[in-house]
Amino acid sequence: MKELIDSSNLPKHIAVIMDGNGRWAQKQGAARIFGHRNAIKAVREVTEGCAELGVEYLTLYAFSTENWARPKFEVQALMELLVHTIREELPTLQKNNVRLDSIGELNSLPANCRRELQEATERTRTNTGLNLVLALGYSGKWDIIQATRQLAQEVKEGTLLPEEIDEKRLNERLATQGRPDVDLMLRTGGDHRISNFLLWQLAYAELYIYDEVFWPDFRKPHLYQAIVAYQQRERRFGKTSDQVKVGGI
Ligand code: IPE
Ligand code: IPE
Ligand code: MG
Repeated sequence: MKELIDSSNLPKHIAVIMDGNGRWAQKQGAARIFGHRNAIKAVREVTEGCAELGVEYLTLYAFSTENWARPKFEVQALMELLVHTIREELPTLQKNNVRLDSIGELNSLPANCRRELQEATERTRTNTGLNLVLALGYSGKWDIIQATRQLAQEVKEGTLLPEEIDEKRLNERLATQGRPDVDLMLRTGGDHRISNFLLWQLAYAELYIYDEVFWPDFRKPHLYQAIVAYQQRERRFGKTSDQVKVGGI
């Protein structure tokens, strides 16, 4: 599969809804948490796979705003797992020249999570390879609201006119500021929905759903398969097919 990838036409930004951990575990009679624990290997695979190919941005949906409504023990287990994983994966991130960042309502995370995240972010800041972004306590609606509040505040302070608000200015205030829009969004677990992920940034993303793969089973070949499919699609951005063909008008 990997040899079928055209390295001159890679998606610049891949985003992943890592779904299906609970079902993966329950399918084998285990508790949902067992699925979360077994998801780390898949995170490593997608990160390494993207880094090796030369993808510039990878955003992983690790915990949504809505996930706070899950049973308390599951939320707690996920937060603990997050702390351990960040700590354990730091050397691998360094080795692969990966720069770690996070988006979301980070203040809602437990203090030890925030600390671990801050430390890993700080330590990988000068890495120049893949930009890995963890979406934590994140939702697309939250992001648009917090950006809108910033704009409203600037208008109130007189540093921005309402008519100056445009795509670029809103974009710059989103948590994803400075990063390109998503080219390819992957979702494991078979559900064909966005689940409040990057709503604005997904505007023209190509969607690739794995109907038969739960996240803990995700490996590099699954990534390659999606990129190959992506490269076979025609992204028209509202234009006609003739217009986007090379040399077309
Ligand atoms: C994704 O797997 C992980 C998180 C949302 C944190 P799920 O826990 O949603 O697993 P399913 O979808 O219930 O199988
Ligand atoms: C989306 O999965 C969130 C993450 C993968 C972190 P969910 O399991 O929460 O999504 P729904 O509830 O099935 O839409
Ligand atoms: Mg799910």
